[in-house]
Amino acid sequence: MKILRVDEIHWPALREDKRVAFVRVDFNVPIKNGIVLDDFRIKQALPTINYLLEQKCIVVLASHLGRPKGNDEESRKKFTMLPVAEKLAEIMDHEVLLSNDVSGDGVRKLITDGRGGKTIILLENLRFDPREEANDPEYAESLFKYCHLYVNDAFGASHRAHASIEAITHFTKVKAAGYLLSKEWEVLNQVLHHPIAPQMAILGGAKIADKIQVIKNLMLRSKKLFIGGRMAQTFLAAQGYSLGSSSIEEESLPLARRILTEARTQEVEIFFPVDGRAGKDIDAKECKVVSIEKDKPLSKDVSLFDIGPKTVEIWKKELRKAKSIVWNGPMGVFENPTYADGTLSIVDFLLEVKDSIPAIAGGGETVSAITQRNALTSLYHVSTGGGAMLEFLEGKALPGFEALKVRDRDIQAAIDSTIVIPEEEVG
Ligand code: 3PG
Repeated sequence: MKILRVDEIHWPALREDKRVAFVRVDFNVPIKNGIVLDDFRIKQALPTINYLLEQKCIVVLASHLGRPKGNDEESRKKFTMLPVAEKLAEIMDHEVLLSNDVSGDGVRKLITDGRGGKTIILLENLRFDPREEANDPEYAESLFKYCHLYVNDAFGASHRAHASIEAITHFTKVKAAGYLLSKEWEVLNQVLHHPIAPQMAILGGAKIADKIQVIKNLMLRSKKLFIGGRMAQTFLAAQGYSLGSSSIEEESLPLARRILTEARTQEVEIFFPVDGRAGKDIDAKECKVVSIEKDKPLSKDVSLFDIGPKTVEIWKKELRKAKSIVWNGPMGVFENPTYADGTLSIVDFLLEVKDSIPAIAGGGETVSAITQRNALTSLYHVSTGGGAMLEFLEGKALPGFEALKVRDRDIQAAIDSTIVIPEEEVG
């Protein structure tokens, strides 16, 4: 079994002007008042789109956007792909045709009128039809009907067994990963299985239970872990620290103790904050730096919302000894500028050492923090996946990758693209 990359496919069986590529992308981007607020995911899909245009394909792009509840007028207005089509057209300086239908005559006409190497079609939100999330084979077949090649470049959605990701692959043998999907796989696979040692991991976020398997997997490959965010508070409480009114996951205390024991057994060193920014509440406009010590309980009128400067200094000293760094999860409530310094100091540090220590970062909030420093393309790799990255690091098989695997006996046919839909079906 093998996953082909899009540039491994050759085109002897396809007439130049009849190559139609269906490309599943993850254009699930934040939008406000019809404006795309963050185009990172769109830009990351460009190498695949450009490559397919160079190969004289008509490119049919398909994505979900948000979680629409139905197909009524209000949902269609709220979750339309129109702002994405406009953004893509602006970035590429190229016409992008938005198709209101995702299948049928409308799409057929756009393809028939299209020109290989020129035409880019973006289908409307795949989730307007509930059959997308139901992984419905008929829906999948209708999506692919006028296409010859299936490309998945939607890493962010590859943990979803949905029609455009899983079922669709049963209707073609010519299927491949786009450049983005390939790179995400390569880099995250490296973290889990062949790290550039010593690899160190920085983990943050709220809940230990959500990250337990990621922590365990990273402990196998990283001898030093740095834990911040609300998660750190639960670990500290599990070791007998008294943290004022800081939020603690009481139900996860036994889990935290078990991880600490496992870390000791595996000789993994875990660093926790030695100081933090404490304030009255999450929206506070001011905070004070307090030291975190076992025999100095914090007063009940403060809660921790960020790691402190001393912690950052200690961690930086250790992290400089790494040959690679993995980062997932913020160090505090960085959305509030009062508590943003800890998380942003991590971004600044990774930027400072970027030429000598490759950093692999991901997760929705982590990416927002990196965006605040305008550093998305400066680090070695910033993953476009939130849930997908976590599931990958948990060691789960992602449907998006599984569905792309080509059996050994079919590889040559896929490469030669000899198994194609008859030309007359394209019209
Ligand atoms: C994401 O943003 O994580 C992906 O696009 C998946 O979206 P979903 O969680 O709505 O399936």
